[in-house]
Amino acid sequence: GDVAVLVPAAGAGVRLGPGGPKALRLLGGEPLLVHAVRRVAEAPSVATIVVAAPAADVDHVRRLLAPVAPVTVVPGGADRQQSVAAALAAVPPGPQIVLVHDAARALTPATLVELVAARVRAGHDAVIPVLPVTDTIKEVSADDVVLGTVDRSVLRAVQTPQGFRRSVLVAAHAAALDPLTDDAGLVEKSGGTVTCVPGSELALKITRPFDLMLAEHLLSGGVR
Ligand code: C5P
Repeated sequence: GDVAVLVPAAGAGVRLGPGGPKALRLLGGEPLLVHAVRRVAEAPSVATIVVAAPAADVDHVRRLLAPVAPVTVVPGGADRQQSVAAALAAVPPGPQIVLVHDAARALTPATLVELVAARVRAGHDAVIPVLPVTDTIKEVSADDVVLGTVDRSVLRAVQTPQGFRRSVLVAAHAAALDPLTDDAGLVEKSGGTVTCVPGSELALKITRPFDLMLAEHLLSGGVR
C-alpha cells in the first residue's frame, strides 16, 4: 500500500445534540469512528491510518481501534484543520498519497477510498469526491431576504476522503492562514488544481440527529 489515511475525529459534535464527541457516538452499537476506520482499512491501497482524537480520549480511542485495524492515534486540535495537521505530522516516511477522511462519514465504502487514491496515483495533485446539488440554492441576507438564485448546475456537494499527493498536502498546510472546512480548499488557495470524481450517497456526513437516524436505517437495511 502507498496510501496514508488521516481521520480527523476530534470534533465536539454539537449539532448532533448532547452526548460527547461525535466520532464516539454509537451507530448500530459501535462508535462512528469504528465504522469509518473499518471501511478505510478494507481498502487494499491503505498502508497507514492516523486518527486525531479529542485530547481527553486518546487512550480510549487507541483501545477502541486496536481490534479494528493498526492505527496511530494523536491528540487533535482546536479546529478541523489543526487536527488534520497533527495527524499529517504523524505519518511515517513512505506513503506518497495522503487521504483525509472525516470520521463523521462513517458509512463511506472502501471502493470510494480506492477510487480517490487511484486518481491521485494517476497523476492528479488533489482529488475530491462530489455529488450534484439537488435542491435549488439561494443566496440570502442576514435578515433572511433572498438576494439571488445560484445556478446549481455548476455546484457540487463535496465529500471525503479527499486525496492528495503527499508533498502537495504538506505544502498546502504549511501555507495555510485561515482555517477552512476542507483540505482541498487549502490547495485551491495555494493555486493548485483540484479534480472531482463521483462521490457516494453512502459517504453522507453524519452531522444532525436526522443523519444518524438515516444511517441507522441504512445499516439495518443491509448496507455494510
Ligand atoms: O464539524 P464537522 O462536521 O465539519 O467536522 C468534520 C470532521 O472534523 C469530524 O470528523 C470531526 O470530528 C473533525 N474535527 C476534528 N477536530 C476539530 C473539529 C472537527 O478532528 N477540532
